[in-house]
Amino acid sequence: MNVHDSEKMLGVLEPEGFLQTDNPRSADLIIFNTCSIRQKAEQKFYSELGRIKSYKKLNPCLKIAVAGCIAQQEGKNIFKRAPHVDFVFGPQNIRTLKHFVADGYVHVAIEENPLISVEDLPAKRSSRISAWVTIMYGCNNFCSYCVVPYTRGRERSRPSEHIVAEVCKIAEEGFREITLIGQNVNSYESDVDFPGLLCKLDRVGGVERIRFVTSHPKDLSTALIDAIKELPKICEHIHLPLQSGSTAILKMMSRRYSFEDYIEKIAALRAKIPDISITSDIIAGFPGETDEDHRLTLKALCEIEFDGIFAFKFSPRPGTKASKMQENLTEEKKSERLYEILALQDTITEKKNNALVGAIQEVLIEGPSENANGNLTGRTRSNKIVDIWADDIIKGALVDVEIIKGRRHSLEGKLVG
Ligand code: 5AD
Ligand code: SF4
Repeated sequence: MNVHDSEKMLGVLEPEGFLQTDNPRSADLIIFNTCSIRQKAEQKFYSELGRIKSYKKLNPCLKIAVAGCIAQQEGKNIFKRAPHVDFVFGPQNIRTLKHFVADGYVHVAIEENPLISVEDLPAKRSSRISAWVTIMYGCNNFCSYCVVPYTRGRERSRPSEHIVAEVCKIAEEGFREITLIGQNVNSYESDVDFPGLLCKLDRVGGVERIRFVTSHPKDLSTALIDAIKELPKICEHIHLPLQSGSTAILKMMSRRYSFEDYIEKIAALRAKIPDISITSDIIAGFPGETDEDHRLTLKALCEIEFDGIFAFKFSPRPGTKASKMQENLTEEKKSERLYEILALQDTITEKKNNALVGAIQEVLIEGPSENANGNLTGRTRSNKIVDIWADDIIKGALVDVEIIKGRRHSLEGKLVG
């Protein structure tokens, strides 16, 4: 979400005469697009913000802006903490960046103003192959640990015809893949629901693959499962955050499903789409999590066998319900549990990747490989990274690849034919 918001900021700034630079020391404007989902991200931002202060001595014209969720949350307090910051704007106010620049950077725009939406902002996309497309903003779920509903506001879905128009334009520009993004894409509701939107987008010529993140288990409907199965361009991958294998903890997280409900959804997905890849998020050490709750999460990982997970230590966020709950675990204990979760999942991911050896997979080539397992890298429809050795293949090509080796975080393959 933040990466795409940054693309939108560049899209607003370029017509104003700004060019992107890789060297912050030569910049006239530095924007920190911040994340406040966990404390670590926030700490990293404040230490970077402190470090960059000296750049103003090198370049007296330099302006520093703070955007994103920390900006939304802290507003004018950021000026108190860091007087070298020139302006602050939240995720709903990207459009006003144009005015900040034109008016000499004097405004603070932290209020959410529904009239100043981020709808239809131009984006300067960093890839030429794969494009992010926002379909909805905000979240209404108020999971007890999560700051997003406070920083990104209530759920708002874009009208489907705006999304279709954006995707048509992307297709004309030559992109091969789109990823629909939103905090909770499967609760998309406009003139059509989410499966209805997928149906419309599947008909857009040119784009070959459609992905979407993130889905909430409580909103995973049979119609969505059918859409993934039936519509040819929808990739067979779903990111479905479980968070914990303990129903008691899920209740304290206000997730609104039990572990049994979740398992039923997984079974329904796999019954209709046997080779679907399923990834997830897990939080280790939520307040009140017992040894038994943790054991249930490890058991869940063994039972479900996700293709991959992101796992995090619980981090109390200001204003959330969970930040007022009594924490029963030390940081060391939370780290220990996180490590166990990640180590277990690594063995599962490796096993699942190894099981693909010999399979023929369609790979979309994204560009040169960054490691020694091939000169090119791409992704399967199931969103697994594959490195291959091949000459004469161009970025954006769809090729058939035989998987020859499974690794922990990627696959190795060779071209078929
Ligand atoms: N502490 C730890 N992890 C969190 N996440 C969200 N809020 C917190 C928090 N306070 C994780 C969840 C979510 C992912 C995007 O970040 O697992 O799915
Ligand atoms: Fe946060 Fe996702 Fe829950 Fe919304 S659904 S509150 S974004 S964890």
